[in-house]
Amino acid sequence: MTTNRLDGRAALISGGAGAMGAATARLFAEEGAAVCIADLDLEKAQQIAGQIEANGGRCKAVRLDVRNAAQWNGVVTDAENAFGHLDTLCSFAGANHRVSFDLQTEEMWRRILDINLTGCFLGTKIMLPALRRAGGGVILHTGSLGSLRQGAGGPAYGVSKAGLVALTRSTAASYAADNIRCVLINPGHVDTPFIRGNAPHSPNDESTSIDNPDNYDRRVAATPLGRMTMPEDVARTFLFAASEEASMITGSWINVDGGAGI
Ligand SMILES: NC(=O)c1ccc[n+]([C@@H]2O[C@H](COP(=O)([O-])OP(=O)(O)OC[C@H]3O[C@@H](n4cnc5c(N)ncnc54)[C@H](O)[C@@H]3O)[C@@H](O)[C@H]2O)c1
Repeated sequence: MTTNRLDGRAALISGGAGAMGAATARLFAEEGAAVCIADLDLEKAQQIAGQIEANGGRCKAVRLDVRNAAQWNGVVTDAENAFGHLDTLCSFAGANHRVSFDLQTEEMWRRILDINLTGCFLGTKIMLPALRRAGGGVILHTGSLGSLRQGAGGPAYGVSKAGLVALTRSTAASYAADNIRCVLINPGHVDTPFIRGNAPHSPNDESTSIDNPDNYDRRVAATPLGRMTMPEDVARTFLFAASEEASMITGSWINVDGGAGI
């Protein structure tokens, strides 16, 4: 059932070809928003945009490496020209290399920080003029359980996601007077290729993938509500945070994790 909660809105969704990004793009389009899916994987972005358009939604797909400021500039300009304005940024692009602290290389550290944290900083900076021109807007970043607790292991992922807490607060405080809100959404254990597959941005093997039933069961057991979080659970939270219902929420985080972060 659609409720047209985003009628007249226009969103740029980085990492929008991934599982959570695509679920959010679909839901936003169903709720009346024009959406631009921006992802390193252009073919996948185009596939999803095609499905959204076939369902009557307004959608475009573009290639974006969130580490590249020049690409951000081009994507924001194109989307603003295509839709007439831009009022929402959703950041989903993410990377992880699941190794011990000992084995985390400087290259892994820089790659994870660049994509997960600097990518959100660049997106925020480069979207701001467009949001101001729109009279205000919403910036939503994707955190993680790693935003709340870091634990043992390679440190870069937790550092990048904890860094988003600070970026979210800093953005919220700096731009509230421009009618721009910023919220961090922390998914728990979400059934997506990020923890199932072996993509270059998030490699997994038998010891980490939820294709291994032991790993799947361990994550369900660590979730008090007793099931994996699904991309659609996260998409509904993004919809709420983007909508007018959340108009007094800024600088804070929302966990969508079935209690896994307790
Ligand atoms: N799956 C989980 O359990 C989980 C839990 C908490 C947080 N997260 C976070 O959720 C976000 C979305 O992940 P997902 O689970 O949907 O995974 P996913 O692998 O399906 O999607 C990630 C997307 O990011 C894109 N991407 C990677 N590097 C990029 C770059 N440099 N520029 C642009 N796009 C890039 C990929 O092409 C992919 O489409 C990530 O930020 C991840 O850290 C995932």
